[in-house]
Amino acid sequence: MPLRVSAIIDVAGSVRSFELVQPDASELPPFTAGSHLKVQTPSGQLRKYSLCNDPAERHRYVIAVKRDDAGQGGSISMHTQLHEGDILPTSVPENAFPLVDNARSYTFIAGGIGITPVLSMIRSFGELPPAPWKLYYLTRSPESTAFLAELKDPTLKRNVVIHHSEGNGEFDLWPALEKPDSGHVYCCGPKGLMESVRDMTGHWSRKNIHFESFNEGGGVKPDDKPFTVKLAKSGHEFEVPVGKSILAVIREHGCNSASSCESGTCGTCRTTLLEGEADHRDMVLYPEEMETQIMICVSRAKKERLVIDL
Ligand code: FES
Repeated sequence: MPLRVSAIIDVAGSVRSFELVQPDASELPPFTAGSHLKVQTPSGQLRKYSLCNDPAERHRYVIAVKRDDAGQGGSISMHTQLHEGDILPTSVPENAFPLVDNARSYTFIAGGIGITPVLSMIRSFGELPPAPWKLYYLTRSPESTAFLAELKDPTLKRNVVIHHSEGNGEFDLWPALEKPDSGHVYCCGPKGLMESVRDMTGHWSRKNIHFESFNEGGGVKPDDKPFTVKLAKSGHEFEVPVGKSILAVIREHGCNSASSCESGTCGTCRTTLLEGEADHRDMVLYPEEMETQIMICVSRAKKERLVIDL
């Protein structure tokens, strides 16, 4: 879906928002809060970005991109090579982080640029939210905080807590998560934040805790090594190189397997692990499941070989 960049706005020190419209100004396909687009950046990489505008808007999509100078160049090219009037190839919106209906309450926890899907959710509530909600927005400093003016609006004072770690230390989320209730928690941000929230919500019903990550394929760690994955049903064995997921490798060899987020947060690619020790990198599995289950979109092997039930 080629969309035209109709506006580019700096919304924080290293965060820029891009407004995308149909070149002929017609309506865009609808989306729901929490959705993302896949875009082909000017440098050629495919990247997922959450839509941060109100889903009721049909004339535009808005994404926000944090420039990552230590990344692989996708966000830098969005910042330096994309200009108003340019055409940006995008997918239709997909949602691996949907809001549940009829929640008793919503607790949003956003770290840094993880505010984008949450912003769309809050904007979708308008003046009549379906349930009480609270946002904990954790960032490094006011300068690095996207959409700060909007979220500091006095009308949101009772709903929004903004915490800057520079000079104040880390925010303690425990009081907000200590007492489980039938509300739902939505968390998007750096892996460390999501892991803390997962650890602090072990006593909640797991269906009430939702995560969104943009670390597609799980990213690369310095000590990653290639390993072999054997598919028990077909007997095929493939090498999984560094920088590629099990899911990507088996797809390249024509094996289909269901997936959605492809970043270890939704649970769609859950697969039974028959042999080997997994290096789990997802946000879905609980300790008691880790010996027998694996999320093949992000997790790897601790040793040379895994056997999975595919
Ligand atoms: Fe979502 Fe793997 S596709 S956890």
